[in-house]
Amino acid sequence: MMQGKTVLITGASSGIGLATAAALATKGAHILLAARDAAKLQEAASQIRSKTNTAHLTTYTADLSSQLSIRALAQSIQKDHHVIDVLINNAGGVFPDFKLSVDGLEMTIATNHFSQFLLTNLLLDNIRRSDYARIVNVSSDSHYNGKIDFESFTKNKGYFIMKAYAQSKLANVLFTQELEERLAGTHVTANSLHPGFVKTNIGNKDTSWYASAVWSLITSIGAISVEKGAETSVYLASSPEVQGVSGKYFTKCKEKQPGKLTFDKALQKELWRVSELLCPL
Ligand SMILES: NC(=O)c1ccc[n+]([C@@H]2O[C@H](COP(=O)([O-])OP(=O)(O)OC[C@H]3O[C@@H](n4cnc5c(N)ncnc54)[C@H](OP(=O)(O)O)[C@@H]3O)[C@@H](O)[C@H]2O)c1
Repeated sequence: MMQGKTVLITGASSGIGLATAAALATKGAHILLAARDAAKLQEAASQIRSKTNTAHLTTYTADLSSQLSIRALAQSIQKDHHVIDVLINNAGGVFPDFKLSVDGLEMTIATNHFSQFLLTNLLLDNIRRSDYARIVNVSSDSHYNGKIDFESFTKNKGYFIMKAYAQSKLANVLFTQELEERLAGTHVTANSLHPGFVKTNIGNKDTSWYASAVWSLITSIGAISVEKGAETSVYLASSPEVQGVSGKYFTKCKEKQPGKLTFDKALQKELWRVSELLCPL
């Protein structure tokens, strides 16, 4: 059912993004894989090709923590594709220490929220051209613990890894709700999701040996496979059941009530305003 559809997946070089790309390629979609590392992307594409010998794949290298790089990515995609049927904003990371991106934004919020905000807005016309038109934002149940502190987007206000991560994942849901409102009356849908607790290397990168060992241990005990973790992204991208459904939060392929703060209209609008200020569209 995804034959002829063009699906852009960020963070498709490993983990949940790669498994999502493989599953949607198997359904016949043309997959555009985006991530930082060209070699890892090539490796990911050959892995998918070896499983689905008909796979139609294109790779794009971009650093999604950089607004310049996101703009260049959007331009390359627009040059190659007039229409994007599905955008899956999946790339994300955790950062043990406070660090600023090239744009002067705290690294977690830059990578996890500003990438979704900017890429989606830049590609909106291409998505609108599709009859199918689905935007899927990968968030996390960590958002239930999140609070938004706008000053922390650019300043170190007692940085803590999980606080910054939860904030960025709350921003994903708030952004999706506000986007849905802005898209009202159009056929474009936008939903967010929690993939589950998934055995990936997200907790092993950019971190200390100790934190990495703890992540490896807890994922080896309780985490689900990347294929299972990709199921809700694949569902939102491809299932006829969610045609026309928008502004909702999903996990295990089912709608779920997101955190209370995500319904705060003033906060949704303020996040959009501040995002546009720090990342002009
Ligand atoms: N694993 C879990 O339990 C879990 C739970 C809830 C939500 N999530 C969410 O699921 C999504 C995928 O995470 P994962 O667990 O699959 O982690 P992962 O295996 O580390 O994959 C992350 C992907 O994002 C890419 N990425 C990271 N920073 C980037 C940047 N600056 N520019 C371009 N690409 C970048 C990575 O590419 P590189 O090769 O360039 O690093 C990789 O392809 C994230 O949004 C995460 O927050 C994960």
